[in-house]
Amino acid sequence: MTDWHKLEQKYLMHTIDRLPLTLVRGQGAKVWDDKDKEYLDFVGGLAVNSLGHCHPVVSQALAEQAKTLIQTSNHFYTIPQIRLAELLVQNSCFDKVFLCNSGAEANEGAVKLARRFGKLYLNGAFEVITTLNSFHGRTLAMVAATGQKKLQEPYTPLVSGFVNVEYNRIEAIKEATNSQTCAVMLEPIQAEGGVNVPSKDYLRKVRDWCDQKKILLILDEVQTGMGRTGTLFAYQQYGAEPDIMTLAKGLASGVPIGAVMAKKKADVFKAGEHGATFGGNPLACAAAYATVKFIIENDVTGNAERVGQYLNKRLEELKTEFDFIVEVRGRGFLQAMQFNKDIADGIVMACLQKGLLVNKVKPNALRFIPPLIIGEKEVDRAMEILQEVLAETANSSR
Ligand SMILES: Cc1ncc(COP(=O)(O)O)c(C=O)c1O
Repeated sequence: MTDWHKLEQKYLMHTIDRLPLTLVRGQGAKVWDDKDKEYLDFVGGLAVNSLGHCHPVVSQALAEQAKTLIQTSNHFYTIPQIRLAELLVQNSCFDKVFLCNSGAEANEGAVKLARRFGKLYLNGAFEVITTLNSFHGRTLAMVAATGQKKLQEPYTPLVSGFVNVEYNRIEAIKEATNSQTCAVMLEPIQAEGGVNVPSKDYLRKVRDWCDQKKILLILDEVQTGMGRTGTLFAYQQYGAEPDIMTLAKGLASGVPIGAVMAKKKADVFKAGEHGATFGGNPLACAAAYATVKFIIENDVTGNAERVGQYLNKRLEELKTEFDFIVEVRGRGFLQAMQFNKDIADGIVMACLQKGLLVNKVKPNALRFIPPLIIGEKEVDRAMEILQEVLAETANSSR
């Protein structure tokens, strides 16, 4: 049998420590490895497979588009791109879309848009305030935007023009705002940073401050968008609309795509000022259109809200059973379980052996980001496995 792990070590750069598992196919919330062992997938491509693996509407849209037109230059009009943009605009508070290929690229576009806005309307202001513990992507500028020292230090000197301040404290944003500030960029819930949910009025306060200072509010909804937190976009739960929003992960249920959405006021690019060769290609747009349409027409967001709450309740039950669980937090299908010690690695491995994939978001915390289409039955099965593993963990530390 081919040793894929050995070949991976030989040919791929070591940018990640992978789990010892080679996945070969997926269906719904299940995946299978190269030995045909089945797993229940609560990682979901890292909050990407919104409709699960190989959902028929996505596979069909891809197959049909692959036979019709895969890529053209953006010098030409293509129908899937325009249809997707129309669908996104009609179901959000935004007026325009720019399509690209990933979350980091979408955030780069958002920051470029904010800098253009600064040049046009704010006397050349260019600085963007972001938060500590955030995650905005891996490009050089997004590393500077991402308020995590361990991701920044290998790449200093950092791209200038970013200030990282405390999350969930409006005063920190106020103190960092000056005449060079053109925007504030935030995640509505810090996802990679550990699933940190801000207080209910935080975003509204940031919105008010941005209005007062006439600067832009950018929401990075790369992870929280597309129904993940129980509404199509997380901003809809906070009573605060951003000027710019970025999307990626769940937008095409697994096919790479990113989007920058802007209100009229912030729609300031002129032809030639920004672009992406593959951005908005017909193949990715067909998959995204099928995904978004299915989410809207089948109340997938309602499912994420209801079943996500059920997941939260079941996790809370486990918390009452095991004293080393200190907190359960999250919204919809973005949930985390925090431990009082660094045991997440062992729990992830033990779950994997029993057929459940979960994510370690911190050395002492797990994240649950399953496909948005799962029901209580899948949650029950996942909780059964997790309960067994937690009981073994409790016994072994006695
Ligand atoms: C909130 C947020 N923004 C941006 C990114 C980067 O997206 P990508 O990996 O597609 O560049 C991520 C990825 O985890 C994310 O969670």
